[in-house]
Amino acid sequence: MRQSIKLYLLLGAFIAIRLSASATEGMWLPHLLGSLNEKEMKGMGLKINASDIYNVNKGSLKDAIVSFGGFCTGEIISSKGLLLTNHHCGYDAIQKHSSLQHNYLDNGFWARTQREELPNPGLTATFIVRIEDVTKQALAGVDPGLGERERQSAIDKNLAAIKSGAGKEAWQDVLIKPFFESNQFFLFVTETYKDVRLEGAPPSSIGKFGADTDNWMWPRHTGDFSMFRVYAGKDNKPADYSPENVPLQPKHFLPISLDGVAENDFTMVFGFPGRTNEYLPSRAMQLIVEGQDPARVGMRDAALKVIDGYMRKDGQIKIQYAAKQASTANAWKKWIGEMQGVRATGGIDRKLAYEKRFSGLVQASPVFRGQYGGLLDSLNNLYNDLAPYAVARDYYTELVRNVEMLTMANNLVNLLQETRAAGEDQYPALREKFLASAQTSFKNFNLDVDRDVATALFDIYFKEVPSNKIGGEGYQIWMETNKDGKTTANKLYSQSALISYEALKAFVERPYATVLTEIWKDPATRFLIGLRNGYAELVSKPHDAIQSGINRLQRRYMQAQMDVLKDRRFYPDANSTLRLTYGKVDGYAPRDAVQYDFMTTLDGVMEKYKPGDYEFDVPEKLRQLHAAKDYGQYGQNGKMPVCFIASNHTTGGNSGSPALDAYGNLIGLNFDRTWEGTMSDINYDASICRNIMVDIRYVLFVVDKFAGATHLIEEMKLVHPKKAKVVPMRKKAA
Ligand code: ARG
Ligand code: GLU
Repeated sequence: MRQSIKLYLLLGAFIAIRLSASATEGMWLPHLLGSLNEKEMKGMGLKINASDIYNVNKGSLKDAIVSFGGFCTGEIISSKGLLLTNHHCGYDAIQKHSSLQHNYLDNGFWARTQREELPNPGLTATFIVRIEDVTKQALAGVDPGLGERERQSAIDKNLAAIKSGAGKEAWQDVLIKPFFESNQFFLFVTETYKDVRLEGAPPSSIGKFGADTDNWMWPRHTGDFSMFRVYAGKDNKPADYSPENVPLQPKHFLPISLDGVAENDFTMVFGFPGRTNEYLPSRAMQLIVEGQDPARVGMRDAALKVIDGYMRKDGQIKIQYAAKQASTANAWKKWIGEMQGVRATGGIDRKLAYEKRFSGLVQASPVFRGQYGGLLDSLNNLYNDLAPYAVARDYYTELVRNVEMLTMANNLVNLLQETRAAGEDQYPALREKFLASAQTSFKNFNLDVDRDVATALFDIYFKEVPSNKIGGEGYQIWMETNKDGKTTANKLYSQSALISYEALKAFVERPYATVLTEIWKDPATRFLIGLRNGYAELVSKPHDAIQSGINRLQRRYMQAQMDVLKDRRFYPDANSTLRLTYGKVDGYAPRDAVQYDFMTTLDGVMEKYKPGDYEFDVPEKLRQLHAAKDYGQYGQNGKMPVCFIASNHTTGGNSGSPALDAYGNLIGLNFDRTWEGTMSDINYDASICRNIMVDIRYVLFVVDKFAGATHLIEEMKLVHPKKAKVVPMRKKAA
């Protein structure tokens, strides 16, 4: 009892501070910085103007930032299109060029000349030309009383008209995205470059140092960077890959500061954050951290245990599964951190207090009461209804995602459905596409690994998901194999055609009608279809019906918060559009009696060094440079800085984003968040949420001193803003 009073008081104090909203929370739209943020940013230390960050009339910082392949961020750091991003963002590309003979993952790669740069079909770099608010046109004539689907189609019509009327050049694209739960709409004119070549990457023992053990952790010692070069046609416009293409001449490229960071320095991170949910009600947050996260984590725990075991003992499997394992482990660990962080910061109680204040204000005003009375309760109730379906959905998604034979079977069923929709004569063409992607998948497939993953996941799936959310057909097979994962897996993997590319190819290269009947005889496709049908009917359908009601109320709740909480400044949830976030270089205290410093050095790499280890080996050259303290112009007081943290509000997709100083110079490369703070996606808390960056001096040191790629350093513009009395104006790139 006393304990809870104390807790309550403590939370009260917390909340009082929170309502004044931390200055470092928020992912802001670059074209609105002038009106919403500039004053505050200058108060925190910004030395340039909002119009130097985003400007449609002249080169500005935004012209150096790209969406890298749509999943990460990159920035241009030379007048010749040199692009910097994370090692883990370039990982797929590096892996694709790797083999046991040329193991660029293990040994690193550096193009000594432009001819040695490696093309990456499909990889893109997208610049933002301009952003416009098109809310009025998007919602014109849209009756607030419409159902969700009708509303969407009315909006879609408007958006199509806006798009076709938008001024743009032939080589540009236009896209419109909803913001604030579809209360607002912004238009983006973009330029996408399609010839992006691999320039260089350090060995994984630097670029992925600490691997999964250190992932999401601080103190961190990872040199998580890789370099690419953007190529353009002779007219400097986007062009498909061609040996005739020339390096891009950007409108702006980032100068690089060699002066390093000090505690409390103002920092900005500019990039493409993927997805956040900062305006959920308490019940939704509870569903995530008490229902969905544990389900997903449980499935991945089991899958990873199998994969890790094989990767440790087999070099071929290690290469084949490297990228898959990294992506599976990454979200797995993030979810664990999210659960812990929400608990540690009393996230749900804080939401409840926030809701209490909101409801109080609604009740106090007759107008608000009429508009929004009861809204929050209805929303929370819908999340209660959603909970069992949301959890079952996650189990299903994780099962089909992690058991690759089921992924393959699922793709095969999709192929047949697409054929039915498109007409039987389209089968050969659709099949070619299917086979091409299957071939890539099989390149990185090992039957033993997948069978053992399946064994483990079947046991969890059928135990955790109630049979009334699985359905008769899938459950039937489970019964036939004595409700045992191993027996089920053995049956699928010994009798299916989905175990090799050749067998699969033979299977689908028969007439469409034959394939349609044969899938019922193949145990893997039969099993998948059973599960898939049950899932569609018993989980997906009810889930989506409830979700559509939620979307509607979530939109009203968003509007309500903006109307009612006049003292709060709102930023839109991340949606893979360009955002700026700002904060300060700062350590933090994760737990009682523990205090983290803001910066790590190469000494820490050596402390973690374990010769020959899977995660903590250190290349000999790096050890020599450390022993000789041979850091060149990149060291600081005899130490080599490696990583630092700050209170910038970032999320997945911000990987590869530049960390900028008060002048807009590059000081680091964002690549992670601290474990305690991964809950910032649903519950940002300035006390423990930190983003992790590799110090740009470490990047340059590795390029120059370690890899000897000094020609790249010569391309860059190195500056000393702290030492210079007069700070030179950034110039447009020649
Ligand atoms: N946690 C970082 C992110 O979310 C880095 C992931 C890559 N590293 C890894 N060990 N999986 O993308
Ligand atoms: N590593 C993440 C990414 O790929 C960034 C870390 C985060 O989620 O904040 O985007």
